[in-house]
Formats: sequence, structure tokens, C-alpha cells
Amino acid sequence: RRTMNSIVKPFRRNVVLIVGTRPEAIKMAPLVRALRREPWCQTTVISTAQHREMLDQVLTLFEITPDHDLDLLQAGQSLSALTGRALTGLEPLLAQIQPDIVVVQGDTTTTFAGALAAFYQQIPVAHLEAGLRTFDPYSPYPEEINRRLTSQLANLHLAATSTGRNNLLLDGVGPDRIVVTGNTVIDALHWSIARPARLADPQLEQILRSGKRIILVTAHRRESWGAGMRNIASALSQVAEAYPDVEIVFPVHRNPVVRAAMHPELDRHTNVSLIEPLDYREFCRLLDHAHLVLTDSGGIQEEAPSLGKPVLVLRDTTERPEAVAAGAALLVGTNPARIVAATAELLDDGVAYAAMSNAVSPYGDGRASERAVASLAHFFGLGERPLDFGDPVNGSRSPDDQGWRAHHAAKVVPAHGIPRLKCSGHG
Ligand code: UD1
Ligand code: UDP
Repeated sequence: RRTMNSIVKPFRRNVVLIVGTRPEAIKMAPLVRALRREPWCQTTVISTAQHREMLDQVLTLFEITPDHDLDLLQAGQSLSALTGRALTGLEPLLAQIQPDIVVVQGDTTTTFAGALAAFYQQIPVAHLEAGLRTFDPYSPYPEEINRRLTSQLANLHLAATSTGRNNLLLDGVGPDRIVVTGNTVIDALHWSIARPARLADPQLEQILRSGKRIILVTAHRRESWGAGMRNIASALSQVAEAYPDVEIVFPVHRNPVVRAAMHPELDRHTNVSLIEPLDYREFCRLLDHAHLVLTDSGGIQEEAPSLGKPVLVLRDTTERPEAVAAGAALLVGTNPARIVAATAELLDDGVAYAAMSNAVSPYGDGRASERAVASLAHFFGLGERPLDFGDPVNGSRSPDDQGWRAHHAAKVVPAHGIPRLKCSGHG
């Protein structure tokens, strides 16, 4: 790959990356680390701190100390208040830094406010993980609208998959402004799995080593607050009672709304562990040992197939249809009967389980940040446009990740005698 050794420091492009929440930090970290190695740019990281503890866990792990921290988090923050504070906090910073480009990731309030703040100062915007769509403005809420608005503001669209690319083309984005990179979360996952962490909680480490089947659960989406969350809690309660030999492990989001929905229903079960959010390396190790996953998280929908873990998606819609199409994920919504039935099927039916666990992982090959770096360099006229992830010319779609999975699976003792991997070809 081309490097810019001839470019002297004063002419280095100033790339500002804005993060606010846990998933943004996880997905931006591989890009920050990759950009730091590039001689043609200098990187500046701004944290809005829309999240605090959950964000800091990730930044510490990836050794990223933000150059600026707006320290925005407030308990029970409203969307409007947070958006307003992010915009007014970013304005003087961007004016002072004078970035050549601002990179935002995903679809949070930080993402949208970061892109808008840059636009107000006529600074180009690059959007990492561009083009996700459910086409339902209220699902997920407010993320579907955040990402559509961010697409309007962006000049460079780094789509994770060709589905994202197609959605952007339908929106009228020019093909020359879109690069399909794969999802940087797979870069982060590969990094993390290569550094497995012992779980700090000895009881949890004991569960992990017990050989029992673990159902890993997370839930936090705003559109599920209220009835949806109560239904998820009720479904988990029923599964815990019906399968006393199975352990349910649920690292609970720090949002008090989520905690209030889960604890009253689930605290009484001895085989349900409601725990604090885990450090990313611990979480990946738990995911790697889990039998199956119930989640409404975007990132976990992408990570789990990479480790061959079936995902039941606790939502009515998903902007990540690839895993569903591949058979690695199933949309079950928040109806308790549906959640319990789908979970029971995967626990009882080895064939159904194997079909999901052996499905192709569609989200990346661990080289997304490399393509994103090359895309940014190309944006400045400093190099070739990279080939798209999935481009048949470089044949990189899933074979690389399949190769990684096969390599990783070979090192792990299969759990419960169920085949972990059938390395299917991919067209
Ligand atoms: C946010 C994003 C969502 C993303 C999710 C990832 C928006 C509107 N939502 O949702 O897209 O999927 O992050 O987790 O941008 N809290 C803490 N400490 C933390 C984090 C959160 O105490 O480290 C509590 C606070 O009470 C806070 C509340 O959680 O007010 C909600 O946080 P917020 O960022 O507003 O929304 P999330 O539901 O986390
Ligand atoms: N994650 C983590 N610790 C946890 C739970 C999740 O590190 O206790 C990671 C997970 O691996 C994934 C990301 O956090 O990469 C998902 O974050 P979240 O569910 O908060 O947001 P979403 O992906 O839904 O936007």
C-alpha cells in the first residue's frame, strides 16, 4: 500500500474522529490505531462522553486517550438536551482544531451531532458504517433517523457491506463517494479474541469453565422501553425455569430504565446472572464460550456470527439483514412466547442449532480499518481507491473471515459435542 513518506509533517491531513458511546469506540478503535501508523495524517480523537464508564472501558483497552473530552453524560439524558450539548460543545473545538475531515461512526446522537457540527463549519465528513437502514423511522429509534441524517451530511460513506452501499445509492449518493470496507467491529473482535481475558468476577469465570450451556443476553433499545423490556424479562424468566441446567448471563446496560425492567423479574433465578457491563475483551471471551445469544444490540449481531454463535434478535426489524439471510440470525421481536419457543428450539434441536451456528459470517474479514484508511487517503488524493470488501476481484468477502473462524475454532474445544464450524464456500 502506498505511503506518504514524502509528505512533511506540516502538510499532514488532520483527521478528527468523534466517539461518544461504547459501540462507537469499539468500531472506531481499529481505525484510530491504523491511522496513527500513517505518515500522511495526524489524528485527533474527541470524546463527547455521551457514555462514561462504558466508553472509558473501551478507550482504555485500546489505549486511546481522547485529545478532548466534552464529558457530556448526564443520568437520564434526553435526546434533545444531549444533541444540544454535543453541538455547542463541538463547535469551539472544531473551530480551534480546523480538521481536514471529521469521521463519525454509526447512528448515535454523537454521530449525528458530530456530523452536523462539522457541516456547520463546512468541514468534510466521513461516515463509518454508512448506509444501514430498516426504512422504519421508529425502529430502531432514534438511530434510523440519525443515520439517514448523517448520510445527508457525509462526503465519504464507508459502508460495511454491499447492502449498505445499495441503500446509499438508492438515497442518491454518488458511487464515487462510497467504499465498502467491511465492518471494523470484526477487526476489533479479531484483536480481542487474540487476547483472551480471564473474567474478573470469579463466579462468572466458574460458570464459563463449568461446561454448562450459556445463553448470553443484552438489551437496551429505546423502542423496547416499557412493554418490550418487560416482555424480554418475562421470556428470560420462563427460559431460566424451563432449563435449570442452562446459565443465562446478562451484562446489563447502565441505563437505569433497562435495569429497572430486568432486576425485579430476574433476580430470583439462581441460573440468571445480571452483571455489570463487561470489558470488551472479557465480553468477547464470554461470547466465544456462549452457546447462543439473545440481543437487540447492533454490534453483537455482527460479532456473534463471526464466532459461529446463533443470534436471536430481540427486535421486530434489523438494519443488518445479511446475518438473517445467511441463517446465522433470527428476528424474534419482544413477544415472550416467540422468544421462548425460538430459544427452546435451539436448546433442544441440535440440527437447528448446527444450521445457525455454521452459517456464513457476512460482516467483515478483519481488514475494514485498512480499507477505511485507504479510502480517507484516496479522498485527499493521496492514493488509490481500495477495492470494496466483497469485490470478486480480490475475493475477500467471507473466505477470509471463514479462514479466521476455522483457525480459531481449531484452537477451541467444541462445546457440548455440537460441531462448531463447517467451512462452507461462499459465492
Ligand atoms: C446509546 C445510543 C444507541 C446505542 C447505545 C449503545 C443514542 C440516542 N443512543 O443509547 O444508539 O446503541 O448508546 O449502548 O445515541 N449510562 C451511564 N453510564 C454509561 C452509559 C450510560 O450511566 O457509561 C446511563 C445514563 O443514565 C444515561 C443512560 O444510560 O443517561 C442512557 O444513555 P444514552 O447514551 O442516552 O442512551 P443509550 O440507551 O445508552
Ligand atoms: N459489549 C461489551 N461489553 C458488554 C456488552 C457488550 O464490550 O458487557 C460490546 C459488544 O461486544 C459490542 C458492543 O459492546 O461490540 C455493543 O454495544 P451496545 O449493545 O451497547 O450498542 P449497539 O451495538 O446496539 O449500538
